[in-house]
Amino acid sequence: MYKNDFALSRGVYLLSHSVGRPLKTAQQSFSKNFFSPWEQSNKEPWGIWLGIIDQFTSGLAKLFNAKQSEFCPQVNLSSGLTKIIMSLNKLQAQNCVVLLSENDFPSIGFALQNALPKSCELRFIPKHLDMSCANVWDEYLVNDVDLVLISHAYSNSGQLAPLNDIIPTAKSRGVLTLIDIAQSGGVVPLDLSTLKPDFMIGSSIKWLCGGPGAAYLWINADHIEACQPKDVGWFSHDNPFEFDIHDFRFHDSALKFWGGTPSITPFAIAGHSISYFAKIGSQAIREHNQKFTTLIANVFPDKIVSPIEHHRRSGTIVLNFGEKQSKLLDSLQKNNITVDRRSLGLRISPHIYNDISDINQLLSAIKANI
Ligand SMILES: Cc1ncc(COP(=O)(O)O)c(C=O)c1O
Repeated sequence: MYKNDFALSRGVYLLSHSVGRPLKTAQQSFSKNFFSPWEQSNKEPWGIWLGIIDQFTSGLAKLFNAKQSEFCPQVNLSSGLTKIIMSLNKLQAQNCVVLLSENDFPSIGFALQNALPKSCELRFIPKHLDMSCANVWDEYLVNDVDLVLISHAYSNSGQLAPLNDIIPTAKSRGVLTLIDIAQSGGVVPLDLSTLKPDFMIGSSIKWLCGGPGAAYLWINADHIEACQPKDVGWFSHDNPFEFDIHDFRFHDSALKFWGGTPSITPFAIAGHSISYFAKIGSQAIREHNQKFTTLIANVFPDKIVSPIEHHRRSGTIVLNFGEKQSKLLDSLQKNNITVDRRSLGLRISPHIYNDISDINQLLSAIKANI
């Protein structure tokens, strides 16, 4: 029933772990909110532009059940991560320890490596370990760790991190928590007010279907005052329009991380999309997604390499067809069925715009080519 809302071309699109399809109304909404005001007034547009940002952060607050003032727009996750790390005294001290996984997205490791002082240690949970297993996290969350970076969902393996176990364990051991929701935002429900992590970074390009350039960081309200961002500008100021070069005062919300003149256009597109998804709710999207991944798993039970148990599964199912994989991928492409391949197998991510006919086409095409 949602399929008609999205810009889809002929064929079957199952690549929402990479880039989500835009809403058909995105163009019209962008024109109305961004261009029409130019045609109607000679006034400076900042008031309207800040309204666009307000729609973006209020949509995020609704989607993740958190305060709007805890969100700040960012260009991408790597940049948001760098800003958070550089703002924390604890992580700019000598010899701090940051725990992450070899399964995290490489850009996250690159950013951490360069944002931390050289004396700090990046400690990796090895690649072969199951990131959906609470015992693995329990073993690595030792007392000398200062911060743990947790990817909520791992797109190469389809594993989901057990945040409900990790966050309380980390807290009890004095470890700060930072969640990367690039692969889960919009498709796996996340309630920040209940979970209470310390920091979060995310984007809009994948399951939120909001295009590139509209990322965000989230700072737990308890930490906002202590954060001292280094990459600042007039939009990090308590009153950006004060214009006194001798009087810098941090904004009292997460917007202290904002910086110089912000981009507005990506947030106009993403804000529209996030409002759409906030209305549907992540729970309904999760159920739709899991219904189809379960269907696929039941047809090819011996080919699944991603987790089977519901609470360990992300929105992506990964199937491995051994030596037949390259030929199969070529045939799917020829049939206009879009999935992709990583080291563990073929990644398939059904979204709210996929229906049973899409899944049946995928299943028939696979059966015909293995
Ligand atoms: C888990 C995860 N984190 C981060 C990113 C992207 O980070 P950035 O926005 O800095 O490019 C991706 C991109 O696919 C990802 O899968």
